[in-house]
Amino acid sequence: MSNLSHPQGAPPAKPPREMWSTRKVFILAAIGSAVGLGNIWRFPYVAYENGGGAFIIPYLVALLTAGIPLLFLDYAVGHRHRGSAPLAYRRLTPKAEGLGWWQVAICFIISIYYAVIIAWAGMYMIFSFTEAWGADPATFFLSDFLQVSENVNIGFDFVPTVLIPLVTVWALVLLVLAAGVQKGIGRANIIFLPLLLVMFLLLVVQSLFLPGAADGLDALFTPDWGALTNTGVWAAAYGQIFFSLSVAFGIMVTYASYLKRKTDLTGSGFVVAFSNSGFEILAGIGVFAAVGFMAFTAGAEVGDVAGAGGIGLAFIAFPTIISEAPLGALLGVLFFGSLVFAGFTSLISIIEVIISAVQDKLGMGRVKTTWIVGIPLALISILLFPTTTGLNLLDVTDAFVNNFGIMACALVTVLLLTYAFRKLPLLGGHVSDVSSIKIGLGWRILVGILSPIVLGYILISELIKKIQEGYGEMPAWFVGVFGWGMVVALIVVALVLSLIPWSSKSAANDPVLDAPNKKEVSK
Ligand code: ALA
Repeated sequence: MSNLSHPQGAPPAKPPREMWSTRKVFILAAIGSAVGLGNIWRFPYVAYENGGGAFIIPYLVALLTAGIPLLFLDYAVGHRHRGSAPLAYRRLTPKAEGLGWWQVAICFIISIYYAVIIAWAGMYMIFSFTEAWGADPATFFLSDFLQVSENVNIGFDFVPTVLIPLVTVWALVLLVLAAGVQKGIGRANIIFLPLLLVMFLLLVVQSLFLPGAADGLDALFTPDWGALTNTGVWAAAYGQIFFSLSVAFGIMVTYASYLKRKTDLTGSGFVVAFSNSGFEILAGIGVFAAVGFMAFTAGAEVGDVAGAGGIGLAFIAFPTIISEAPLGALLGVLFFGSLVFAGFTSLISIIEVIISAVQDKLGMGRVKTTWIVGIPLALISILLFPTTTGLNLLDVTDAFVNNFGIMACALVTVLLLTYAFRKLPLLGGHVSDVSSIKIGLGWRILVGILSPIVLGYILISELIKKIQEGYGEMPAWFVGVFGWGMVVALIVVALVLSLIPWSSKSAANDPVLDAPNKKEVSK
């Protein structure tokens, strides 16, 4: 147990840290964070494009060798040091504070575009009733709904059909966050997660009854064993696991910091990880059954209609399916409603990383911090994305911050914690002290040796690919500023933020924050 958060003999300087009421609420919130847009639209096409049924092997290897071990690492940092990401890392060792701010910066960027996709899904849920996209969902999405400009730049031509739902998403998410950890985040997950599960199960059942569903499943699950020799397939599996499990970007550090002292961390982690993967595979089944139906009605091969990955799959392929399927409106409400609920509980967790960090740094209350953080964040999102130029910006920031940002941060974190700060025995020991399933040398090897090798390899190969091939059809300056520039800016911002002193209120009676010359106190 940490000797830092409750220094002997000293009265607490601040109100006690907020807490989940029970471990179940934490598990629900952690699953709510993990199950998000990444599960519903990203997993199905990543799996399909990377070996189909054979993808399950790299996926499981990535889950067991990196996803779950790094989930335990995040839990250990947050739970042992009871702080937001920057505070928890700082308490681990003062030199690590920047790692926490790096994760906060990643969440800042992800939140401003993640909210936009939820807003789109909300509108498409309404559009499903009238099939507002008509006969040509692609033209409707790009030209009528988003009104995408020909020019790739930043403009402020607002599109009201996106602006209004986006403002609503921000208002709702900030209200939940202002209500606090248990009353806001906990309750929202208690309501939305079961609702999501029911809606998604209905969606899968409805999809499975569509003609052609079996062909879709065949296409998804037929293994292409040759894919296993392709390193890109392994990279895709690790990338999917990181984003999907919400590891290495501060979320699980923050959520674990609200747990009671005696909490089974490994048991909880396994429940969260397997629930997330279960949902992901369910999403693959539901989405590909529907895609099989799309191929059936078009008289085409599944491979010919399944090409539209990500945004195209949700906002172009699915509307086509909804228009043709029996009870299409129901299918639409279930699919887009699931995206909204899954996305919303993940967005809550992403923004909580930022709120919690600012709250700790400035020593302010929850409600005040929510508005101080939330309003500028919402304004940036609202100014940049519901515009005719928002789609390209979203595309580039997602590709770079998501791929490089999270992976680079994960790599640097494991390297520093293992080799520079040598904290793995301490953190692993903490997890074992409080958990039913103990972790030891095996976990340290996975986190300290295998993960850096795999992450380093993936990062370098992705880097070479992006440098050689550029990104999409976008102009170099745009990719330079909002892709590469953003990745570098996150690191610079993290370093600058870690130089700002902690508020006297936060620092009072805290041996680490108090330390006059920032010397390491924790051992
Ligand atoms: N884990 C969240 C998702 O899958 C961020 O979308």
